[in-house]
Order: sequence, then structure tokens, then C-alpha cells
Amino acid sequence: MKESLEFYNQFDNKLINDYAFGNKRLISAIESLSKYIPIRSKVDVLDIGCGLGWSTYEFSRFFDNSTFEGIDLSPVLIEKARKLFQNQNLNYKVFDITKEVPKKKYDVIIMLDVYEHIPVDARKGFHQSLLNLLKRDGRIIIACPTVYHQDYLKKNNPEGLQPVDEDIYYDTLQELAKDIEGQVVYFEYKNIWRNYDYFYSVIQKEVEYNSQNLIKDDIDFQIEQQTIRLKRLKDNLGILLEVKKGKKSKSRFQRLAKKIKKKISK
Ligand SMILES: C[S@@+](CC[C@H](N)C(=O)[O-])C[C@H]1O[C@@H](n2cnc3c(N)ncnc32)[C@H](O)[C@@H]1O
Repeated sequence: MKESLEFYNQFDNKLINDYAFGNKRLISAIESLSKYIPIRSKVDVLDIGCGLGWSTYEFSRFFDNSTFEGIDLSPVLIEKARKLFQNQNLNYKVFDITKEVPKKKYDVIIMLDVYEHIPVDARKGFHQSLLNLLKRDGRIIIACPTVYHQDYLKKNNPEGLQPVDEDIYYDTLQELAKDIEGQVVYFEYKNIWRNYDYFYSVIQKEVEYNSQNLIKDDIDFQIEQQTIRLKRLKDNLGILLEVKKGKKSKSRFQRLAKKIKKKISK
């Protein structure tokens, strides 16, 4: 995991860029998947691989009765997350989830663009950890690139791939569901940058018929406005960024990813 740790410790600029300029993939995942967080009096939520902590923070704002914990492999990212976002129901911790897990049980585990970064040979152990981390009727919410998108990146933009970037098939999700003694209760292809490049899925540990509404279609969830996000970056991290109309953040990321890869391979 050393290579991954080095890579993600230098991933802060990419994630700051995503936050400031509103990465389409992450905004779509946060806004669309929020409806799978049950609106009960209180649920405990774990956001695995939270990166800069943006998703964890947005959820904590909306579900203010519930508790949110963002964990990530990278101490650099967690330090920035803690500075950037504060809420009384929110905290961030460093964990390499393949080695150690929080000593708590959760109603919801979220993984946005993370499951594909768990090495195949660590998958069984990871599934066992997820089983232990989930409460009896807990659920896992996943956003992941499809195999079509991974194939596309391998052929056309290998720099867009991260140190561990596995193919996740529908069968992989069924295997995960089996290992956490649950069911795949929702699966949908999404079109983010290209057709069918992402999928969203919910895996429920114990499906209880009629126990609670799985989907709240009327949920009015909106992420914080860009002006507030830019102010937060300036006030909390001392980073001053301006919105340049017509400039695409994608090319900035590609340049950055190239730089990071070069640095790591040295
Ligand atoms: C592609 S980024 C996604 C970040 C954020 N969830 C998002 O959607 O922008 C993958 C994240 O997973 C984290 N990660 C990778 N392997 C991990 C592990 N073994 N334990 C905890 N976090 C891990 C990385 O540090 C990184 O922040």
C-alpha cells in the first residue's frame, strides 16, 4: 500500500480542484445517493475513502440528527478535511481500511469511488470488515466506475488510473452482498462523462420487508454553493481560487495526475 499512500498524500490538489470547481462525478454521487441515507431520528454513517471530506460534510449538514465519520488512508487529506469542514455531528480519522477498522457499528457505509481501489487480494478480508462494521439492517452505498470506463481509461488515458484500480462487475457486487449476508437492492448505470461510465448501487445487509422506506424521492438535497466553497477554502486552508469561465478543470487534473505519477515512479 506504500505506493497508494504516497499517491493519495499528493492527491489533495486534485480533490481541492474538484471541490472548488464542482466535480460532476462527485456532485452527482452526493446528490443522487443522499436519498438512500434513511431519514430516521439518528443513524450512524461511515464514509470510507472520504478524501477531502466533502461528501461526509455535505451529508452531515443535511442529516443533522445523525453522526458522520469520514475515514481515509491519507493523513494529508484527513488533516485538510478537518480544517475545511466542522460540524458537531462530523469527524474525520485516518484508517487504512484493509488493515484496521473503526470499533463501532454503522447503519450506513458510503464508498464513493473507493471500492475499485481495494486490491482484489484484500477484498475478502475487506468484505469481512464490512460485515462486522454494519448493524443488522445496515446498508452499503456505492458509486464506482464501470468496467467500460476502466477499459476506456486503460486504452485512452492510463494516467487517469490510480495505483490500484480494479474492475468491478455486477458479479463482484453480488459477491460482496453474499459476504455481508445481504442483497443488492439497487443498481443503476449512470452517464457522467460518457454513457454508462459509472454505476450506483445499494447493498442491504438484512432486507426487512416493509421495515423502512429505502428511497425518499422527495428529498431536497443540495450541495453548498460554489461561492461558499471558495470562501471556505480561503478562510480555512488559505487557498485562493478564482472561477475562470470557460476553463475546464479536467485538463488541470490530467496534468496533475501525470506529474504525480512521474514523481512516484522516480
Ligand atoms: C478516488 S479517491 C475518492 C475520494 C472521494 N470519495 C471522492 O469521491 O472524491 C479514493 C480515496 O480512497 C482512499 N483510499 C484508497 N485506499 C484506501 C484504504 N485502503 N483505506 C482507506 N482509504 C483508502 C484514498 O486515499 C482516496 O482519498
